[in-house]
Amino acid sequence: MRTQVGIIGAGPSGLLLGQLLSRAGIDNVIIERQSADYVLGRIRAGVLEQVTVDLLDEAGVGARMHLEGLVHGGFSLLFQGRRHRIDLEHLTGGKSVMVYGQTEVTRDLMDARAAAGLQTVYAAQQVSVHGFQGARARVCYQTGDGAQASWQELDCDFIAGCDGFHGVCRASVPKGAITEFEKVYPFGWLGVLANVPPLSHELIYANTERGFALCSMRSATRSRYYVQCNLDDSLAQWSDETFWAELRSRLDPQAREQLVTGPSIEKSIAPLRSFVAEPMRFGRLFLAGDAAHIVPPTGAKGLNLAATDVKFLSAALIEHYRGQSDRGIDTYSQRCLRRIWKAERFSWWFTSLMHRFPDSAGFGQKVQDAELDYLVHSEAASRALAENYVGLPLDFGEP
Ligand code: APR
Ligand code: PHB
Repeated sequence: MRTQVGIIGAGPSGLLLGQLLSRAGIDNVIIERQSADYVLGRIRAGVLEQVTVDLLDEAGVGARMHLEGLVHGGFSLLFQGRRHRIDLEHLTGGKSVMVYGQTEVTRDLMDARAAAGLQTVYAAQQVSVHGFQGARARVCYQTGDGAQASWQELDCDFIAGCDGFHGVCRASVPKGAITEFEKVYPFGWLGVLANVPPLSHELIYANTERGFALCSMRSATRSRYYVQCNLDDSLAQWSDETFWAELRSRLDPQAREQLVTGPSIEKSIAPLRSFVAEPMRFGRLFLAGDAAHIVPPTGAKGLNLAATDVKFLSAALIEHYRGQSDRGIDTYSQRCLRRIWKAERFSWWFTSLMHRFPDSAGFGQKVQDAELDYLVHSEAASRALAENYVGLPLDFGEP
């Protein structure tokens, strides 16, 4: 089989790239290790920056998001028992964010791909990438099981590694050609999804003596809540009752009263990590999204960063195929990384500000208290938070 762009991974990065390329007349095939249902079963964050909303519109998949998504003009920080609203619209000259789950973004992209009759190979096994440092790139994989198993080969001009943190693309780059930067945090997030109305119409990020908590939502009838937990906690320790009691203990009196609880429909523990791989292009292989970088979820930058990588990559490939220039291809990595490091910095900072660290009693705690107080009482500090939360500009001018 032959295609112009072989895309590894049918997460939001791969699906969005496929959609943007197809609309520009560029042939692509997606190779995904899991089934479509498995991909849709993963629950991730759900706060979209305006650039992501615009890109989904450009890809022709924004209709349901505009109908069902919730536009948020602010959120609250809760500390020392009191809530303080960060007025995004006022602080950023009218900007807001769209609350719409990543699962729904993925579903919309999958539906659009199926409707356009574009090719996706699900449940591909033993996926491997070859030849990307030379003139001819190839993807090899196996389909079918047992006696039905057969090897397939996909010839392509370019390979887009959209296969997430544990994917095969980054792992296939020679060790000496890539530099990895990583920070792991000494806690995790325990998340619960439940069909109960959200306790507030906006998100609440809480820093409390018992640890961080986040009150988020998917719709007017579905809530998403998180509490900071230990990395070695197991789900067996966290019955629904234990979770709701812990969350309640981290809220202010009014929120405690408004909290509606119910059976969880999903519950998971996720570690927190900051990670960047540089560069993001190796000849005919490009990395995009979680394959190249991870942010801790505080501030919900993961999907937004993936979307901007894809925006730069699709523009570069379209320019190439129109015979205009290869400048986009040559500057892809540099352009992405400049934006990525700013989001890495923000996500690390917001995580450091809102969580309780095992070793930061005393001086560290006093500094955190002072920063929170400063943040909500200085318009300059609030504005810096708001500007990053709604999303920094795509380009920052000449480096
Ligand atoms: N071969 C084929 N597919 C693979 C392979 C492989 N060897 N390894 C992984 N994949 C698939 C995964 O099954 C997954 O469906 O690649 C896809 C990667 O999707 P994501 O992990 O969702 O990554 P990405 O599309 O970059 O999305 C980034 O996801 O984790 C969040 O915060 C992150 O919101 C951001 C978004
Ligand atoms: C979520 O709704 O899952 C969510 C929202 C905001 C975050 C992280 C996660 O910062």
